[in-house]
Amino acid sequence: MSNKKALREINEAVRYLQKQYKHKPEVGVVLGSGLGNFSNEIEVEKEIPYKEIPHFPVSTVEGHKSKLIFGRLSGKRVIAMAGRFHFYEGYDAQEVTFPIRVMKLLGVETLLLSNASGCVNPGYKVGDVMIITDHISLFTPNPLIGKNIDELGPRFPDMSEPYSKELIARAKEIGDRHQYDLKEGVYVAVTGPTFETRAEYKMIRTLGADVVGMSTVQEAIVAAHMGMKIFAISVITDIGLREDGLITTHEEVLEAARLAEPKLATVFKELAAAI
Ligand code: HPA
Repeated sequence: MSNKKALREINEAVRYLQKQYKHKPEVGVVLGSGLGNFSNEIEVEKEIPYKEIPHFPVSTVEGHKSKLIFGRLSGKRVIAMAGRFHFYEGYDAQEVTFPIRVMKLLGVETLLLSNASGCVNPGYKVGDVMIITDHISLFTPNPLIGKNIDELGPRFPDMSEPYSKELIARAKEIGDRHQYDLKEGVYVAVTGPTFETRAEYKMIRTLGADVVGMSTVQEAIVAAHMGMKIFAISVITDIGLREDGLITTHEEVLEAARLAEPKLATVFKELAAAI
C-alpha cells in the first residue's frame, strides 16, 4: 500500500471516531489476552465495535472483545482497545498497528500496553507481573518497513528507550506502595501462534529475554515512531522453561491473566492519575 493511501485510511478512521466522540483522549490503553475485564475500571462514555470503524481489522481471538471504549480512567480521558490484532491472525504488521496510529491522531500522547507472556527467567512464576523495560523485535516483521509516512515520524527512529523511564519509575512506586513485587525485564516478540518448543524457550533465554509473547512490540514500534510515551506491562501466564512435562494451553494463559488483572488495573489506574 502506498503511504498516501495508508495515511488517508488512518485519517478516515480518525474522522469517523471524532464524529462519534467529541472529546480528545489523552491516554491510550491496549488490553491483552484475558485482560479485557480491565475495561470495567473505565467510566464508559462510548463504545464502538471495531467492525463499525472504517479500515479497522476485527479481532478473531477468544478472550478479546473487539471494541474501542472511550471514557474516563482516574479522571483522564482514555481510549481503550478491548481486543488487539495479532500478526498470527493473518493481519500484516501495518494492520496490527493501525489502531495505534489512529489513537495518536486522535490526540493520545501516552500509550499503556498490556499482554500475557510466557517466562524464561527462572526467577519468575505464573501470575507475576513484569514491567517491560526493553524488547527484542527481531523475530517479527517491523511495521515501519515500506515507504516512510513522514507525516507520522522519521525514517530511522531511535529505539534506545522505547519505554518511558519516567513511567517505569512511577509504576515501580505504585508497585512498592501496594507490595506487588513487580518484575522488570525484556520481552521478546514472536509471531506465534505456536507456543515455543523447549529448544526455542532456551534460545530465548540465551538471547537475554525474560519473557516471550505474540504481541505488543509492533505496537510499541509505531508508537515510538510517532513520539508517543509508552508504558508496557506483561502478566506471566506460563513457564517456558519447565521440567514437569506439562504443556502450555490458551485456557491456562487466559486464567492466569484474569487472576493477575487486579494488579495491572491498579498500576494503569494510578499511572493514568499521575500523567
Ligand atoms: N509464548 C508465546 N506467547 C505467549 C506465551 C508463551 O509461552 N504465553 C502467553 N503468550
